[in-house]
Amino acid sequence: MSRSLPAQPKIQVFPDYEALSRAAARVVAGRTRANPEAVLLLPTGTTPLGMYRRLVEMHAGEGLSFARATFFNLDEYLGLTADHPASYHVYMRENFYGLVDADPRRVHVPEGNAPDPQAECERYERMMAEVGGVDLCVLGIGRNGHIGFNEPGAPFDSRTRIVRLAETTRLVNAGDFEGGRAPERAITVGMRTIFESREILLLASGANKAQAVAAAGGEVSEAVPASMLRRHPAATFLLDREAASAVGEIS
Ligand code: PGA
Repeated sequence: MSRSLPAQPKIQVFPDYEALSRAAARVVAGRTRANPEAVLLLPTGTTPLGMYRRLVEMHAGEGLSFARATFFNLDEYLGLTADHPASYHVYMRENFYGLVDADPRRVHVPEGNAPDPQAECERYERMMAEVGGVDLCVLGIGRNGHIGFNEPGAPFDSRTRIVRLAETTRLVNAGDFEGGRAPERAITVGMRTIFESREILLLASGANKAQAVAAAGGEVSEAVPASMLRRHPAATFLLDREAASAVGEIS
């Protein structure tokens, strides 16, 4: 039995968070330059902030344009309005979409407070299909191995849907909410939809991700959502040294 991660996904390890962020931005910029109409599926969280910062710099300093690209976000808390400070609408506006030339007509974040959340999930899934699917999906990873808000146990064949958040996820994200309580449910793009992306980058930084990253390289199992990426033909893990520190310990 191999003790190390297999050939898929490819792994790149960087000395620190800045180097990892620059590498992620280089991939996103490269794909967007090669195909200005690229369809991107993007994450929120702490991890991608450096990547977004670098992309904003490239837009301002190098003329990198996102005007013809189409954007989808991976998830949103159920019940939050688009102007709630902890919403991913606000996060994306403040960290990326509002700072580059993204076309608002081609920017999509699930509507957390849609009157009919089930219909919203179906609409979201349909929009991704109508633009021909996702060219590049960028993911973070939860300490429990989640991708998007697909928590452990998420079916690999799932589509965009309403999910219950793991208690550990709610605790990690509690600080974003007044009163320290994160919503119990969210809308997330499903596992199958993520998997159908033509290319996937997973970013992980810091020692608190090391076990999740290692588990993602272990047995492919719905108990560790990120392990699904081992079956993807074009998935790459971009890790800093700390996040990579346990790779190979779990087989
Ligand atoms: P983080 O979140 O980047 O804030 O650690 C990642 C995730 O939970 O997917």
